[in-house]
Amino acid sequence: MESYFERAKKKFEDLKNKKDITVLGIESSCDETSVSVVKNGTMLLSNIISSQIDIHKRFGGVVPEVASRNHVMAIENVFNEAIKTAEIDIKDIDAIAVTYGAGLIGALLVGVNFAKALAYNLNIPLIAVSHIEGHISANYITYPNLKPPFVCLLVSGGHTALLEVTDYMEHKLLGTTIDDSVGEAFDKVARILGLEYPGGPNVDKFARLGKGEIEFVKHDILKGTLNFSFSGIKTAVINYVHNLEQKGESVDVPEVCASFQNFVVKELTEKAMIACKQTGQNKLVVAGGVSANSFLKEKLKEVCAENNIELFMPELKLCTDNAAMIASAGYYYILKGKGLAGLDLTGSATVTL
Ligand code: KG4
Ligand code: ZN
Repeated sequence: MESYFERAKKKFEDLKNKKDITVLGIESSCDETSVSVVKNGTMLLSNIISSQIDIHKRFGGVVPEVASRNHVMAIENVFNEAIKTAEIDIKDIDAIAVTYGAGLIGALLVGVNFAKALAYNLNIPLIAVSHIEGHISANYITYPNLKPPFVCLLVSGGHTALLEVTDYMEHKLLGTTIDDSVGEAFDKVARILGLEYPGGPNVDKFARLGKGEIEFVKHDILKGTLNFSFSGIKTAVINYVHNLEQKGESVDVPEVCASFQNFVVKELTEKAMIACKQTGQNKLVVAGGVSANSFLKEKLKEVCAENNIELFMPELKLCTDNAAMIASAGYYYILKGKGLAGLDLTGSATVTL
């Protein structure tokens, strides 16, 4: 008798020739449980996100075990809501796309196992999606006419990199962080300033009220390369705050936020422009949670206009973790004949860039 995987493989190959492809995406890599239905990679039919932010706030960060348990409790309702909102019959789904990594292993396994059960039950292909390809694909939903090639500035909680996206689901690494990711630096700076988790949006908010005139570190680190380093500025901010506290002096939170953010945004925008010049690409696509940063958006608009580069940034709700970007990526994996997974699929804490 033909196995599930043999049947799924045939269906996966046939899907490429189907006119309309409906993919159900599942995302559970960190503290968002999300299920979404996307048609043809760009058409959003539903995108339900159940956030655990309020649960993790009191711990000052995501507690992995707590995240896994909450995914287990939320996922079925989120799935039902995604089907209902999309106004489709469960039989209309052509494939299940799920984030297999990178992320918290226990959290990932909840999504992966739910996806496996669904794919087996519906007798349809299961597609293992890299969370990074997902973040990039969020842009295909916001800009249905966007096509590779382009340069991607990836700025998430887990990764910071410059990539040359040569085709759907294909890229070359141009540069990456040699230490912390930019999101991590935002979150750590927020924490030392006593701002609530998740720190990034709070630093963004307070920075609006500061001038940004403190020079924590020089800008010439890693000059001439497309690599980034954010641990130096993070440590400099921590030392600055500790020093003031030891002297019993107060910390100007908006000024620290603005100065930190100025540095980070300058690094990101300058290196993104160099990457576009070096590769000869005239499109810059931003991906990952930090693309929600208002100052980054403002500065990128400015420098892209100066350099004749077309800028693409996901709409706000698609910047941070969501399953729509995973469903979109799933569609392009199908077209490229990549990512088909069996029932032995498991989660992976890391993925190669
Ligand atoms: O992409 P993402 O949702 O998770 C990973 O894939 O890692 O990114 C989350 C990161 C967090 O570090 C969060 O603080 C940051 O994105 N973030 C922001 C903003 N909104 C979210 N950072 C700066 N400014 C924001 N407005
Ligand atoms: Zn993410």
